[in-house]
Amino acid sequence: MLLLAIESSCDETAVAILSGEPGEPAQILASEIASQIELHRVYGGVVPELASRNHSLHLRPLVEQALKNANVSLKEIDCFAATSGPGLASSLLIGATAAKALALASSKPFIAVNHLEGHLLSPYVAAGNVPPHVALIVSGGHTLLLDVEKPGSYRRLGSTRDDAAGEAFDKVGKMLGLPYPGGPEIEKTAKSGNPEAFSFPRSMLKDRSFDFSFSGLKTAVLYTLTDRNPDYGTPRSSDLPDLCASFQQAVIDVLIAKTLRAAKHAGRDTIALSGGVSLNQALRDSFAQACKKEGLTLLTADSGLCTDNAAMIAFAALLHHFEGRQSPLDADIDPNLALAP
Ligand code: KG4
Ligand code: ZN
Repeated sequence: MLLLAIESSCDETAVAILSGEPGEPAQILASEIASQIELHRVYGGVVPELASRNHSLHLRPLVEQALKNANVSLKEIDCFAATSGPGLASSLLIGATAAKALALASSKPFIAVNHLEGHLLSPYVAAGNVPPHVALIVSGGHTLLLDVEKPGSYRRLGSTRDDAAGEAFDKVGKMLGLPYPGGPEIEKTAKSGNPEAFSFPRSMLKDRSFDFSFSGLKTAVLYTLTDRNPDYGTPRSSDLPDLCASFQQAVIDVLIAKTLRAAKHAGRDTIALSGGVSLNQALRDSFAQACKKEGLTLLTADSGLCTDNAAMIAFAALLHHFEGRQSPLDADIDPNLALAP
């Protein structure tokens, strides 16, 4: 079974080809990504019009490259898939339309995939099967806690009420004058900082819900900056490592406390961590330590599967295909597509 998937929900154009059989580890034959990070960096964030124009430019060469790297021809592909939401409408349209056109021209099925389901299942690509677990998705656009019974059966436990975790990293990075995206820059700078130097709020930690809030933390960093330096915009460089480490620790503490509590609440002994922020090594190490203490199993995605990629979309589509699901060719994209009620 060979499946080709396209991901174009935001600023990465990606194409992957997976081979797989039910219950077996999926094999990634090709996973190509044309990153637009450099293009958007000068604007300090993603510019939707630029993103969609670049998806159009990169998609065809990327499909050709993926076929070449996988050493398969278009005719051999059994199924085509694409992200249908959530994301930027003009970006989603490019990938979804291309995948539908390929399916139509090849008389093969098309499967529309929820981007968040791709992230959610990404820690299981190598295993092939997905046990019941609690999933934490931490990306630039989402912070979502879910109880996963099996693929396709998801119950939302909590989500962010304002900024996503990655968004908070990016916005604080911008405040501190670090390049976009802020997440990896903050992690790098935090390495030489003291996480206890500044006492930033752990919002909603005591709240009984499994929801998150990061905008208060972001504001607390801003107030600290303006207090210490009225000429805001140029944080004192000597403060940078401590500010980054203290901010990062506040995010980590809340994510871990809520996720562990959610696992206990749902009666699950496995936690799966996914999304771009899960690349953060301090987060991974702290999660691993906390899970070990509580006797929980922790699964994380391979580093190439954490930020946006098409292999995770292909894996989700593969599982849908094994269940006999496919999408009509007139299935529309949905920028606000939800994963679970
Ligand atoms: O999953 P992703 O590629 O995009 C969305 O679907 O949103 O995640 C991108 C996010 C960005 O906010 C980026 O700053 C964050 O992941 N990120 C990190 C790290 N690497 C990427 N955040 C913290 N530490 C990192 N090492
Ligand atoms: Zn994503």
